[in-house]
Amino acid sequence: MLVGSLALTALLGLGAKIADAANTTLPIIEIKGNAFFSSDSGERFYIRGVDYQPGGSSNLTDPLGSAEICKRDVPVFQDLGLNAVRIYTVDNTLDHSECMQMLSEAGIYVILDVNTPDSSISRSNAECSYNADYLQTVFATIDAFADYSNVLGFFAGNEVINDETNTGTATYVKAVVRDMKKYMKARKYRQIPVGYSAADVSENVQLAASYFNCGDDADARVDMFGVNDYSWCGQSSFQQSGYSAKVKAYSNYSVPLFLSEFGCIKTTPRPFTEIGSIYSTQMSSVFSGGLVYEYSNEANNYGLVDIESQTSVNKLTDFQNLKKEYQMTSNPQGDGGYSKNGNVSTCPSYEKGTWEANNTLPPMPSAASAFFSQGAGQPMGTGYPTQFRCGDANISNYFTADATSSSASQSESSSASSGSSTPLQSSSSSSTSTSASSSAKSSSKSKGGAVAAAQTPLIFKAMAHIWNYIL
Ligand SMILES: *[C@@H]1O[C@H](CO)[C@@H](O)[C@H](O)[C@H]1NC(C)=O
Ligand SMILES: *[C@@H]1O[C@H](CO)[C@@H](O)[C@H](O)[C@H]1NC(C)=O
Ligand SMILES: *[C@@H]1O[C@H](CO)[C@@H](O)[C@H](O)[C@H]1NC(C)=O
Ligand SMILES: *[C@@H]1O[C@H](CO)[C@@H](O)[C@H](O)[C@H]1NC(C)=O
Ligand SMILES: *[C@@H]1O[C@H](CO)[C@@H](O)[C@H](O)[C@H]1NC(C)=O
Ligand SMILES: *[C@@H]1O[C@H](CO)[C@@H](O)[C@H](O)[C@H]1NC(C)=O
Repeated sequence: MLVGSLALTALLGLGAKIADAANTTLPIIEIKGNAFFSSDSGERFYIRGVDYQPGGSSNLTDPLGSAEICKRDVPVFQDLGLNAVRIYTVDNTLDHSECMQMLSEAGIYVILDVNTPDSSISRSNAECSYNADYLQTVFATIDAFADYSNVLGFFAGNEVINDETNTGTATYVKAVVRDMKKYMKARKYRQIPVGYSAADVSENVQLAASYFNCGDDADARVDMFGVNDYSWCGQSSFQQSGYSAKVKAYSNYSVPLFLSEFGCIKTTPRPFTEIGSIYSTQMSSVFSGGLVYEYSNEANNYGLVDIESQTSVNKLTDFQNLKKEYQMTSNPQGDGGYSKNGNVSTCPSYEKGTWEANNTLPPMPSAASAFFSQGAGQPMGTGYPTQFRCGDANISNYFTADATSSSASQSESSSASSGSSTPLQSSSSSSTSTSASSSAKSSSKSKGGAVAAAQTPLIFKAMAHIWNYIL
C-alpha cells in the first residue's frame, strides 16, 4: 500500500493527489486510568518508539515537513518495529500531510512537543515568556496537527525543570497545559492528550509528576506524563537499574506514564536489555512503554542510525540490537494490570529551594483569548522568538494577509539553541534557549525551499481564518 501510493504520488508529481482510498486512518489512542488503549481493538497500547529529530536541536529540521526525509526514515522505523515517534520541534508553517499519511500507513503514532527553542517557557524569566505570542505559536501547532488521528499526544514542555533551582517554571508550564486543553475544547478539536516530559532530576522528578497531576482543575492536569530516564546501563537489571524502585514510587499514579527518553550510553554498543523489562509485567501496571533516545546519531552519540544523505541511512549496531530485543519481547497479556480508577495526586506544597511551583496558576494572558474564538491565525514557524515579549501581544497581526510574507521572512532568519553534549540538554528543545544570547544566535538552517513552497497555501490559510472570524 505504501509503495503503491508513493508510486502514484511520483507519477502525478503532486502529494495532495493521492487517491482517497489509499489513505489510512489509524484508530485513535485513548486513555483509561493509567494506560493507553486502541479505540479500535480495545487492546492495551504500549509505546514502542524513538525520539526523532534529525539534525539535533542545533540544526533544526522539521522531519515531518519533508516527504523526502519521511520516505527515507519511515521504512527504517518499520524495520525496527516501532509504533511511535516523538518529535521535539516542528515548523507549523509546513504541510505535514504526506509524512503523517506515510506514518499512518506504517502504523506509527506521533508524540509532539509544541515548543520551539525560540518559542517556549524560558527558565530565566518564565513569567515573561508566558505571553500571548508564545501561546499563538503553541495553538498554531495544535491547528496544524489536531486533525490527524495518529497524533497520540502533545508535550506542553520538555525538561523545563532541569535542576533544583528552576522548579518555579512548572507553574507556567502547567498553565500552558491548561491553555492547550481549553483551546482544543474551544476549537472543537479531538481532545488530544497533553503531557509533560520530565528530566531525570532525582530531587524533584516525583514532585513534578505529582504537581502536573494534582488539583481540582481537570484542564490544568496532564493527561499523560513522560520521564526521561538513563538509569539502565548495559547489562543491568530491573532491580539494579532502579526501575523497580520507580515502579513502586509511581504505583499510585493515575494517568499513563512512559519513558519519554531512555537508552544510557555508558556501555556501547547498547544491548537494550531493558526492553525485556519495560514490556513485561514487571513494569506494565505502571508504565506504558517508552521512546529510545534517539533515531539519528548527532554530536552526543546516542544514535541508532547514521544519516548519510537525504535518501539513505546506515543502521548501526545499536539499531540491530534494539530490533532484536523488540522482536524477542511481546507485550504482556491482557490489560497488563493497569489501574482503572486512580486518584489524582496530592499537590506538593511550596518549599523554598525544593519545590517552588505555585498551586495557583497565572491566568492566561488576556489577548490570547481571541484565539479561542478565531483560531491561532497565521503560523509563524520555528524561528519566531517570543521568550522576551512580556505582556500582551497585538494579536491582529496574526490575522492580516500581510502576516503571510512577514512570517516567511521571520522563518528565514531563525535562530536555534546552542548545541550541547548532554542528552538531557541537547534534547531539550522546549527550554534550551534560556538566555538572550542563546536565543539571538542565528542558525544556518536551510529550509528556504520548503518555506517558499508553503507560501501560497499560507495565504489561503490566513484568508480562511479571517473568514472564520467574519462568519
Ligand atoms: C543541517 O541539516 C541539513 C539536513 O537536514 C544539512 O544539509 C546541513 O548541512 C546541516 N547544517 C549544519 C550546519 O549542520
Ligand atoms: C490523503 O492524504 C493526502 C496526503 O498524503 C492528503 O492530501 C489527502 O487530503 C488525504 N485524503 C483524504 C481523503 O484524507
Ligand atoms: C498508594 O495509595 C494507597 C491508598 O491510597 C496508600 O496506602 C499508599 O501508601 C500509596 N502508595 C504510595 C507509594 O504513594
Ligand atoms: C482514592 O481515594 C479514596 C479516598 O481518599 C480512597 O478511599 C481510595 O482507596 C483511593 N483509591 C485508590 C485507587 O487509591
Ligand atoms: C502564587 O500565586 C498567587 C497568585 O498569583 C500569589 O498571590 C502568590 O504570592 C504566589 N505564591 C508564591 C509562593 O509565589
Ligand atoms: C495592531 O496591529 C495592526 C496591524 O499591524 C495595527 O493596524 C494596529 O494599529 C495595532 N494595534 C495596536 C494597539 O498596536
